Amino acid sequence: MPLLWMVLELYQVSLPDLPKDGYDTIPMWVADMNFPTVPSICAAIVERVQHPAFGYFSPSEEYYNAIIKWQEERNGVTGLTKECIGYENGVLGGVISVLNAFSAPGDAILLHSPTYIGFTMSLENNGRKIIHSPLKQDENGVWRMDYEDMDKKIKAHKIHTAIFCNPHNPCGRVWEKWEIESYGSL
Ligand SMILES: Cc1ncc(COP(=O)(O)O)c(C=O)c1O
Repeated sequence: MPLLWMVLELYQVSLPDLPKDGYDTIPMWVADMNFPTVPSICAAIVERVQHPAFGYFSPSEEYYNAIIKWQEERNGVTGLTKECIGYENGVLGGVISVLNAFSAPGDAILLHSPTYIGFTMSLENNGRKIIHSPLKQDENGVWRMDYEDMDKKIKAHKIHTAIFCNPHNPCGRVWEKWEIESYGSL
């Protein structure tokens, strides 16, 4: 039995049908989790709902300290303070905050296509012009960025802001280090 079904059964969640014999589960959307959430997260959610007030809140000191420590230990970023950190409760709000810091309405923004619909709508609603650079398949059928195409479009549209999605949605590519470095240097 696939792990996801075992977890659903454990929590007595109503089960979707198992795949037919000889077939496996196929996650059809990149953002869908087909692995169980770590128990500490489930426990924290359960603890939170014990408190009946679901109003607004301010992030705690622990929240900021965890980010500052992560940046120090993982990325060697020092000197971060609480004031450097903005709270967003979703990815798209974060994307728009960054876009507002680095671009103005009417500016062209580079995105790879096919594109996650959330990016498309957020950009359109905020008056940005979307420039697509289509991904293309290499000789092994792996979706790759087209560096030549991006170079041309960056110059032609005077682009100085881009959205980079990793893992890419939709197509699921987890970009290799050399791909990210080439993209960065471009
Ligand atoms: C690439 C990508 N970014 C952002 C989101 C939105 O994430 P969230 O709802 O966690 O803010 C999704 C959700 O499908 C996504 O696929």
